[in-house]
Amino acid sequence: MYVKIMKEMKILAICGSPKRGNTYSVLNMIKENYPNIDFKILMLNEINLKQCKGCYTCISKSEQYCPLKDDRDMIINEILEADGVIFASPVYVNQVTSLMKNFMERFGYEAHRPRYYDKYAMVMAVCAMFGAKETNEFMKGIFGTFGFNVVSSLELEIALNSEKEKKYVHEKTMKEFNNFITSIKNKQKNTPTMGDLVRFNIFKSISKLNKEYFEADYQYYKENPRFPLEASDSDKKEAKKTASNMINEFMKVRL
Ligand SMILES: Cc1cc2nc3c(=O)[nH]c(=O)nc-3n(C[C@H](O)[C@H](O)[C@H](O)COP(=O)(O)O)c2cc1C
Repeated sequence: MYVKIMKEMKILAICGSPKRGNTYSVLNMIKENYPNIDFKILMLNEINLKQCKGCYTCISKSEQYCPLKDDRDMIINEILEADGVIFASPVYVNQVTSLMKNFMERFGYEAHRPRYYDKYAMVMAVCAMFGAKETNEFMKGIFGTFGFNVVSSLELEIALNSEKEKKYVHEKTMKEFNNFITSIKNKQKNTPTMGDLVRFNIFKSISKLNKEYFEADYQYYKENPRFPLEASDSDKKEAKKTASNMINEFMKVRL
């Protein structure tokens, strides 16, 4: 008899390494240590994700009109089905790999119309010595603009493959992954920063000012009751109060 085992959570790991090397091994270690989690590793080098052509069609018209026909929508569906996503990249020349960067470019329209507010993310950078912190900061910023709650970040240095190093990698990884799943279980959402709000409102306002060019953005904001295009009277009053408080604070420092 076939019995479907219900896993407690679904995690998708998107790996930007061009091989099943160190970054893959760390992800696989998590998978093996958490049999109760439906854990899927998606290797960007093993799927068909073509290089962004820079035509702006996804931004202006809609992502559904992207001229590149490949596995992009499969990735979107996997993300939508997951409770949490791990964005993992080795550090190549101080940054994410070109595979991970292309993934970001292909999903760049999400910064205009962020929709992953209910998803949790962890960023993971694997280096030999330097650059993991900067790489994670970069990924955190980008995936945050796509709407993800980036609640966890893991930086690993792997160089020697000694027993001591393996122990360090195992302990650090398990601790951080545990924090990640705890944040998901507790529905621990990020509070947007002032920068996040400014960028979000700029994209929203521009879509209203240039409805023809930013057709997809305009439709998105028009149809989404969560982000009304027109501010309510109480929101306008609140914004005015905040602005005048900010000006007063600024004057105190400057004068
Ligand atoms: C082209 C290239 C550039 C690299 N640049 C860096 C770097 O800037 N800083 C660093 O600490 N390690 C660097 N490394 C080492 C890798 O980050 C490290 O070996 C990592 O564990 C590789 O992960 P992978 O096996 O998943 O590809 C580089 C490796 C390659 C191939």
